[in-house]
Parts: sequence; structure tokens; C-alpha cells
Amino acid sequence: MTTDDARTRLDRLWQRGREFLGCDAAILGGAMSWVSERHLVAAISNAGGFGVIACGSMSPDLLDAEIKGTQALTDRPFGVNLITMHPELDALIDVCAANRVGHVVLAGGLPSAKSIKRAKDGGAKVICFAPALVLAKKLVRSGADALVIEGMEAGGHIGPVSTSVLAQEILPVVKDVPVFVAGGIGRGEAIVSYLEMGAAGVQIGTRFVCATECVAHEKFKQAFIKASARDAVPTVQLDPRFPVIPVRALVNKGTERFMDTQRQVIERFRAGELDQKAAQLEIEHFWAGALKRAVMDGDVENGSLMAGQSVGMVTREQPTAEIIAELVEQATEALRAKVA
Ligand SMILES: Cc1cc2nc3c(=O)[nH]c(=O)nc-3n(C[C@H](O)[C@H](O)[C@H](O)COP(=O)(O)O)c2cc1C
Repeated sequence: MTTDDARTRLDRLWQRGREFLGCDAAILGGAMSWVSERHLVAAISNAGGFGVIACGSMSPDLLDAEIKGTQALTDRPFGVNLITMHPELDALIDVCAANRVGHVVLAGGLPSAKSIKRAKDGGAKVICFAPALVLAKKLVRSGADALVIEGMEAGGHIGPVSTSVLAQEILPVVKDVPVFVAGGIGRGEAIVSYLEMGAAGVQIGTRFVCATECVAHEKFKQAFIKASARDAVPTVQLDPRFPVIPVRALVNKGTERFMDTQRQVIERFRAGELDQKAAQLEIEHFWAGALKRAVMDGDVENGSLMAGQSVGMVTREQPTAEIIAELVEQATEALRAKVA
């Protein structure tokens, strides 16, 4: 098989994802709070992928400005990722509609059928995260147009199941909508393997953090370049009475202080100094604003260095177009070599 034939085969393999997203390479740039703003999002879409703005805790006005800012930098399609527990979710969905955003990703908890409908009524295709097969089926019944299945190798908030297991459980069964695979993808060979299992495309976050166009602080990027896979670990919960949502991030002083804080809070709870609710709140508040401190201010000691295990494959700063071209080349070469 020639390289051209292999590229045609790749395009056929992710055709459903390309058509759904309206782009050349069915690679979603996973929305990363503070990181996925207009520059990186536009760069990913301009390079043939599909950029996604991370709304995070933005107000409707800020989101409106970010969408317009992105539209000024690219004519290509891009999406917006909204966190379902945002208190102004409805208003944010309406901002997407007013700006004719084609794809809305509803993340951070199971979206209601009402939210899915509101986004669809606004003209967007809706992409939802499915953490298990039963929920994937439920989301399709609720009107989701596509799903992302994200394994625990990913950076940021994670579930308990690995990407490879989720892919085996969900890809052979869910055929009604395109399914994108996320978590731990750092090379094109892995993309091919998930496409061959039935994925429509992939979603990648960590690999894009050190893109030249990404506005993350130089120290944040350097931390990624230095780190290996084993440095990206989930937060540890010390006591089941005080649940901690697992977040995969690079270990730093902040991670150590988080363990100390949990220990101290639990001690104070045992001593009767804090009730359960106050103790839980103290633990939950520990990381408030921590991702922003790391990404924007470069506080890599105390901030949160959310990163996936694929961080080991981030070795230098490079233009977004080069990252996407590299992934596509590796995928093409993997297909060519297989048939050869
Ligand atoms: C720094 C960082 C911030 C993230 N923030 C968000 C977010 O705000 N919303 C979201 O849905 N996912 C978030 N994610 C997850 C990504 O969108 C993506 O699904 C994930 O990075 C894919 O796995 P990978 O890192 O192994 O490529 C974040 C990931 C990272 C590394």
C-alpha cells in the first residue's frame, strides 16, 4: 500500500467523524479550562482538527467574547464545552445559539434531556461524555448527537475505567451516533487502533498543551515537557466519608499539601472541631482556582498541573499544525506498514 492509499484508508476510517465535525482530521482538541481559549482553539481548527473552547466558569458575557474572538481567528468549525453544573448553563447555551456555534459539548456530569434539547433547539449538534455503556445508551435516548468516551488515563477530572476497556465495552455496541475516544492518546498508531475498533474519531487534550499557539504559562509548558507518564497521577482520597473527585495531574508541592490538608481536616472532624459538611467543604475548596494559578500565573509548585499520562509523549513546544500533521502521519504510516 502506498502512503496515498494509506491516507485514503485513514480518511475512510474516520469519515463519520470528519462529516460530523466538518473538518479534515477527526481529532477534537479536548477542552481544557484556561488553556483552550481562542488562540489554541482557532489553531486546532485552522490545522484541520476541531478546536473546542473550554467555557469552565466563564460568565455568558465572557463566553460570548471568547466565541467572537475565536470566529475572528478562524473560518473553520469549532465547538464550545459547557460544564453542566454551571449555574447559568441555560444562558451559556443561548450564547452558543446566538453565535451559531455548530457543536456544543456538555461535560462535567450527566446532562439533562432538557439541556440537550435546549442546545439542539439552538441549532447545535450536542456531544456528551459517556462514562459507562448504560449511560451511553441513556444519552443517545436523550438526544445526544455524538458521544465522547474518556478513560482514566486522561488529564483533569477522570472516571475509574481505562480508555481501552471503555472502548471495548462501548464501541461495538453504540452504533447510532459517532463515538470519539479520549484519554491517553499521544500518537497516531493509537488513533488507528480506536478507529479500527469503530470510533469515529478521537479527543486529545494533553498533547496540545505545549502547542506554540497555546497561551499557557511557559513554566506550565516546561513542567509538561519534563514530566513522564508516571508523574501524572490521580488525587488520592484519604477517607471514604470525605469523597475527593479524582483529578489526574502532575505531582507537585500542591499535591503533597492536599494530602496534609485532608489529614488535618479529618483530625479536626474526629476531634469534633468541624462538622462533616464543613470538613468536606474545606477539602473541596483546597483546589479552587488552582488550575488558573498554574496555567496563567505559572505557579507550578502550588497550582494544579492537570495532565494526562500521555504527558510523557510531550517532548517540546511545537506549532499546532505540526502536532496534528505528526499524528496524521503516524496514523497513515501505521496503516501502510500493516498492509505491507
Ligand atoms: C489542563 C486540563 C484541563 C482540562 N479541563 C477540562 C474542562 O474544563 N472540561 C472538560 O470537559 N475536560 C477537561 N479536560 C479534559 C480534556 O478535555 C480531554 O478530554 C483530556 O485531556 C483527554 O485526555 P488526554 O489528556 O490524555 O489527551 C482537561 C484536561 C487537561 C489536561
